Amino acid sequence: MTDQITGSKTPGRRMEGRRVIVTGAASGIGRATARLMAREGAKLALFDINEAGLSPVAKETGGIAILCNQTDSAAVDAAVAKAVTALGGLDGLVNTAGIIISGNLAATTDDIWRRVVETNLFGPFYLCRATMPHLQKTKGATVVNLASGAALVPNSGSLSYAASKGGIVGMTKSLAMTCAPNVRVNAIAPGSVNTPLITDRNGGKIPAGTAERYALKRVAEPEEIADAILFLSCVESSFVTGSTLAVDGGRTFH
Ligand SMILES: NC(=O)c1ccc[n+]([C@@H]2O[C@H](COP(=O)([O-])OP(=O)(O)OC[C@H]3O[C@@H](n4cnc5c(N)ncnc54)[C@H](O)[C@@H]3O)[C@@H](O)[C@H]2O)c1
Repeated sequence: MTDQITGSKTPGRRMEGRRVIVTGAASGIGRATARLMAREGAKLALFDINEAGLSPVAKETGGIAILCNQTDSAAVDAAVAKAVTALGGLDGLVNTAGIIISGNLAATTDDIWRRVVETNLFGPFYLCRATMPHLQKTKGATVVNLASGAALVPNSGSLSYAASKGGIVGMTKSLAMTCAPNVRVNAIAPGSVNTPLITDRNGGKIPAGTAERYALKRVAEPEEIADAILFLSCVESSFVTGSTLAVDGGRTFH
């Protein structure tokens, strides 16, 4: 063991003492991650633009709620500074906040492209840049970025989304090289997950035919993605960096 490898593998203590920012914590995968990390002993700063959704998660997990629109780099810098002061340092970042807007090439306006790329790629970049000086002070610090299966297999229906998530995969690899050895940087590429990201566009339901695309013949629950995020955020993944882990019930076989 070296001092790069710190932390507990004991269930219930895997995030003990670790100070983590989770973005997109008001809903879906971010909320499930906040709940799991709190149960594993993390101290949390929870970022989102949705105040009504964020407050109950903060109350439940004991985390600090920080309203932050991640498309605004100055707002991200201020929010990270606030989080680091409140937590007394930083050991982890989970970049979960994101949006999707459907549209193939012909249907993708400048505005759609800009909104999706600003949220899904500029946002995580701003967060990585603002947190890295703090993460570098901790041996065994981690970043987990949310990519998507849309970055790994052809997806003609959401061009801007696929492009933004492809950017996440590339950014993750580059940061893994440049931020080592103190900070490990990984990504997760989920398949379809039962969250408002996909159900809001379909009357609160998973679109018909979605489950059949996966070997396991179902979509994921957000807690199943949170389990993978926990793995990449704790000592159990101490020799994993630069990876994009597909958590997709058998679709991309990545
Ligand atoms: N649900 C899926 O099927 C699926 C599949 C693959 C990847 N993902 C990715 O997982 C991540 C989480 O998605 P989810 O399914 O939990 O979605 P969700 O819609 O349930 O949650 C996303 C959260 O991000 C927040 N957010 C959006 N724009 C923001 C901004 N500008 N600043 C700050 N917060 C903002 C929203 O308020 C929301 O709370 C996203 O990056 C998404 O692309 C989801």
